[in-house]
Amino acid sequence: MRILLGVGGGIAAYKSAELARALMEAGHTVQVIMTAAAQEFVRPLTFAALTNQKVITGMFSGPVDGDILSSAIEHIRVSQENDLLVVAPATADLLAKFAHGLADDFLSTVYLAFTGPVFLAPAMNNNMWSHPATQSNLEMLRLRGHHIIGPDSGPLACGTVGAGRMTEPEAIAAFVDARCDMRRDLDKETVLITAGPTQEPLDPVRYITNRSSGKMGYALAAAAAARGARVILVSGPVALPEPAGVELIPVRTANEMFRAVMDHLEPATIIVKSAAVADFHVADIPRQKLKKTAARFSIEFDPTVDILAEVGRRKGNRLLVGFAAETENLVEYARRKLETKNCDLVVGNLVGGQATGTGFEADDNEVVLVSRDGGITHLPFAPKRELADRIFDHILLLRPALHQAG
Ligand code: PMT
Repeated sequence: MRILLGVGGGIAAYKSAELARALMEAGHTVQVIMTAAAQEFVRPLTFAALTNQKVITGMFSGPVDGDILSSAIEHIRVSQENDLLVVAPATADLLAKFAHGLADDFLSTVYLAFTGPVFLAPAMNNNMWSHPATQSNLEMLRLRGHHIIGPDSGPLACGTVGAGRMTEPEAIAAFVDARCDMRRDLDKETVLITAGPTQEPLDPVRYITNRSSGKMGYALAAAAAARGARVILVSGPVALPEPAGVELIPVRTANEMFRAVMDHLEPATIIVKSAAVADFHVADIPRQKLKKTAARFSIEFDPTVDILAEVGRRKGNRLLVGFAAETENLVEYARRKLETKNCDLVVGNLVGGQATGTGFEADDNEVVLVSRDGGITHLPFAPKRELADRIFDHILLLRPALHQAG
C-alpha cells in the first residue's frame, strides 16, 4: 500500500519516525507530510532518510519529484496517488481543521482532497483531549468513517498523567496494516440503508418521533462507502454530518421513507433497514394548529406502512437485513422478525430498560445477528462504526448461500 503519513506538531512527532519505519517494514511505501509545527519538533531529514522520499513540508515547497506539475496542485496528485492517510500525532488543531474542512496548509488540504481510508492517532494534553470541542470534532470524524487509534493513558509530556499519549508506533502500524487489504470487498454492491427516526405530524406545527440519532445507520453507510459500495442512504431527520461518498435522501415521515426506499429498490443489491420508523401516524392530521384546551383529548392513530415487510415481499435476489430494537427476549423477537419480514439477517439490539450505553443515541452498541440458517452471532459492545464493519463482514458471508438459493 502507498501510505501518506501526516505528522502534526506535538512532542509525539518523534515517535512518528518509528511509525514510518514500522510501516515500511510491513511492506508499505510511505510519503511523509509534515506541518510547520511538526518541523519544530523533528527535522524533515529524519523522515526523508527513513522513507527514501522527499518530505513534503509546505504548500509551496515544490513538487515531490521535480516534474512540471506546479507545486500549487501537488496536493491533488499526492492525494490521488496514495491509498491510505495516517495522521500521527493528530493534534487537537488538526482534528479541528479536519472536522470543519479548513485547508490552510498541505496536510489539511490533502485531507480534503483524499477519498481513501483515514487513520488518526490523536496525541495531546489530557484536558485538551477531554474538552467538549475536541470530543465533538472527534465524533464528527468518527461518523465520517475515519479510524481513531487511541490515545493511550499515562504520563504526558506536560507532566500530568491521563488520556492523551499517542498510541505506540508498533500498535498504530499493526492497526493500519490489519485493515489495509480488506476494504474494497463491497465494490460490486449497491447498498440501500435507512437511518434515523421518522417524524409523524400531529398538526401543522407538532410531531411525534423517537430517540433514534441515526448514528447506527450513518456508521453502516460510512462503512459500506469505505469498502467501495455505492451507498444510498435514506435518512430521517438527524443532526449528523453527511458521510462522505454516499447519496443522501432526506425524508421526514414513514410514508416518505417508504416511497424513497421503493424508488431506490431497483439498483440495490443489499438493503439494511436500521431506521426507527414510527409504527403509527395520525389518522387525520388537522389543517390548523390544535388549540390548547383544559379538557383531556384523544388522537386516533393508524398503522404506518411496514417498509421492511414490503421490501421482504419484493426483494427478489437482494439481501435484506432488518433491525430489531427490543427491550426483552432479543433473540426470540429477532428470529420472529426474520421469518415474518422475509429477511436474510436481523440485527437485534437491546434498547431502553436494562440496556445501558447501547441502542438509541449511544455511540456504542452491542448486537446479536440472527440469520436464516438459524445461526446466532453475538457482537460485543463496541463503537457503532466498528460494529458496522463486523455486520458487513457477516452480510458478505451470506452472499454465496443466497446465490445458491436464488
Ligand atoms: O439511530 P441510533 O440512535 O444510532 O439508534 C440505533 C437504533 C437503536 C435505532 C438501531 O440500532 C435499531 O435498532 N433500528 C431499528 C429500530 C426499530 O424501529 O426497530 P423495530 O423493532 O421497531 O423495527 C423492526 C424493523 O422494521 C426495523 O428494521 C425497522 O426499520 C423496520 N420497520 C419498522 C416499522 C415500519 N413501519 N417499517 C419498517 O420498515
